[in-house]
Amino acid sequence: MGKTILTGDRPTGRLHIGHYVGSLKGRVELQNAMDYDKMFVFIADAQALTDNFDNPEKVRQNIIEVALDYLSVGLDPSKITLFVQSMIPELTELAFYYMNLVTVARLQRNPTVKTEIAMRGFTSEDQQAVFGSGLPVGFFTYPISQAADITAFKATTVPAGEDQKPMIEQTVEIVRKFNSIYGETLVEPQILLPANNACHRLPGIDGKAKMSKSLGNCIYLSEPADILAKKVMSMYTDPQHISINDPGHIEGNTVFTYLDAFCRQEHFGKYLPEYPNLDELKAHYQRGGLGDVKIKKFLGKILEEELQPIRERRKEFEKDIPEIYNMLKKGSEKAREAAAQTMDDVRRAMKINYFEDKELIAEQAKRFSAK
Ligand code: TRP
Repeated sequence: MGKTILTGDRPTGRLHIGHYVGSLKGRVELQNAMDYDKMFVFIADAQALTDNFDNPEKVRQNIIEVALDYLSVGLDPSKITLFVQSMIPELTELAFYYMNLVTVARLQRNPTVKTEIAMRGFTSEDQQAVFGSGLPVGFFTYPISQAADITAFKATTVPAGEDQKPMIEQTVEIVRKFNSIYGETLVEPQILLPANNACHRLPGIDGKAKMSKSLGNCIYLSEPADILAKKVMSMYTDPQHISINDPGHIEGNTVFTYLDAFCRQEHFGKYLPEYPNLDELKAHYQRGGLGDVKIKKFLGKILEEELQPIRERRKEFEKDIPEIYNMLKKGSEKAREAAAQTMDDVRRAMKINYFEDKELIAEQAKRFSAK
């Protein structure tokens, strides 16, 4: 059996360059390599509702934003299936049966659930508004729902960031448990992490560990050129690097982290010919004598080169919004067929196919007639 690739994003905002280097760019490469049986990319609206249930309008508004981001980075619905999670009712059906296979203690140990609760639950004010009356069961069990997303399509390969590792591990456990109880039915997935280390978790422009909408430290994929330039100039660097001649630090210096993620050899010839490569640039910064403005301008040009074509393509797609909804609808219909097939396998394995099991009906008839 060949590869089946599947991944998705929560529609809680426009996608940013952290999503781009961490996942989107790699997805487009995978898509174009054509080295797979099937590839699915989906908008995880139902999962987004687990912690935005009081704001369905936000989720609904962002479905089209994420779809536009997908198309503008080059995901191509003629090659892969793009769909919307909530349009596949089989996913909730599967999740319901998987709930029998997971303990409460195991969910409490899921690091993603754990940190999300610690980070936003009960401590931060905005999350208190959502989770004020306690942790909703829906949020608590979303790793199970994510296992359904992955296994419904018999995905072998899940391109995602490091933060999704615990979700894939939990999915593998569910697959093993299911197969050992009901017989070989489901496929074990593997996570596919980005090759470049700097891409695993891009920090925000303020140097905070994560680029996130709520921290207001994002560079969005659809950022206009002038705002992009402004944001780059405002980036966090090295607070000890006060005058140009001070020796500077590379570690924790957001500009260099972004350069690690985005800079290619050819950029030097084009934008900064006085340096042969990134190592030399770093060495000069560490010695002292290289100013922040210079490295920021360099990064700004690199980012503009990367984002400009994405921005242009987005503008084209924005001209026909109804067609994008139509594309998502068609993709969702196709995805549903695939999920329904798995659902048939699951029902058969779990012996809940009463009406199609002729043998069962005949056996029962015999049992009762012998009475
Ligand atoms: N949890 C992912 C995120 O936060 C979104 C997601 C939902 C997902 N289901 C998935 C990713 C299945 C990969 C596979 O972005």
